[in-house]
Amino acid sequence: MPYAAITGWGISVPDRVLTNQDLERMVETSDEWIVSRTGIRERRIVGTHDSTTSLAAEAAKRAIEKAGRTADDIDLIVVATATPDDFLVSQACLVQAEIGGSAAAFDVGAACAGFVTALSVATQFVNGGIYKRALVIGVDTLTRYIDYTDRSTCILFGDGAGAVVLEASSEPRGLLSTELGADGAGHRHLYVPGPFQMVPESADIFPDTRPHLQMNGREVFRFAVQVMGDAALKSIEKAGLTLEDVDMLIPHQANARIISAAQRQLQLPEDKVWVNLDRYGNTSAGSVPIAMAEAAEAGALKEGDNVVLVAFGAGLAWAAGLVRWGTAGITE
Ligand code: ACO
Repeated sequence: MPYAAITGWGISVPDRVLTNQDLERMVETSDEWIVSRTGIRERRIVGTHDSTTSLAAEAAKRAIEKAGRTADDIDLIVVATATPDDFLVSQACLVQAEIGGSAAAFDVGAACAGFVTALSVATQFVNGGIYKRALVIGVDTLTRYIDYTDRSTCILFGDGAGAVVLEASSEPRGLLSTELGADGAGHRHLYVPGPFQMVPESADIFPDTRPHLQMNGREVFRFAVQVMGDAALKSIEKAGLTLEDVDMLIPHQANARIISAAQRQLQLPEDKVWVNLDRYGNTSAGSVPIAMAEAAEAGALKEGDNVVLVAFGAGLAWAAGLVRWGTAGITE
């Protein structure tokens, strides 16, 4: 059974920066409140020239280049996103139109848990011998759905994309275990109403008919603290490993307090937890692959390292996995 090693990675974030000081001028909040309650200092926001497609395609091109491949070498594209540019055409097809090639292409929807879920889907195609090389992208432009008069949500989110290339390997590399879960009964704690949900009953709530993200922050916080550590632990066990074997935790970057709770549960020192939410905020499906690519670029992930990915989000859904880093066993 071939494994699915991660051989390339890349990110793309918009140039436009929205700082806590900018937000202080927009809503009744303060840098002190945002930093102490979330850990976020600034985030990247799409401008008129950016789109989900442009961010995803740029991250994809960088990942393919890093892997030393071309788009023609890719057999499968899986995109995780909750904010596609088109309701009918998959985001994966829109990316393919930008980067070229003729890979199979489809999307996975699991909000912030989307990238780890998509990684698990693509890995199984490689494990099954159906495809040799896959491109997995996590991308979101949630700020297009944020109400910038709502201080409880507008401080949290940023936009961005991260991508990885998977290649068939004879050595145990790439995703070695998966722990997915969902609690659909909690879906109303975090959602963006679709256009047909907003008419006619909620037309008075959203008079401009633009959908905005709705969130019960306390419930989402409670849920996140509960599932992050548990899911991470299960993914470690499923890979036949123990906490002592973990070299790095790459959590969904939603809130520093949620990450600290997971870190405590896993008894990991700070230098084994990758945190970049101070610079990007919560980029939803982009969060884990952006953090992973940054960790890789910084040389923090070494051949054979055991890396735990864990994320939670709208659904409510969660996803964790144990990745063994490195490219050992790639034959072609
Ligand atoms: N600035 C100042 N005060 C604020 C702000 C703000 N930006 N936002 C809320 N407050 C106030 C509230 O009004 C409240 O005031 P009150 O006590 O007078 O009523 C007070 O601060 C405390 O509010 P809480 O909601 O209890 O604050 P909390 O410590 O829970 O932090 C937060 C709120 C940051 C939203 C937190 O609950 C959280 O991070 N939840 C998880 C959210 C999340 O991760 N969502 C994304 C999931 S991933 C996905 O799928 C997209």
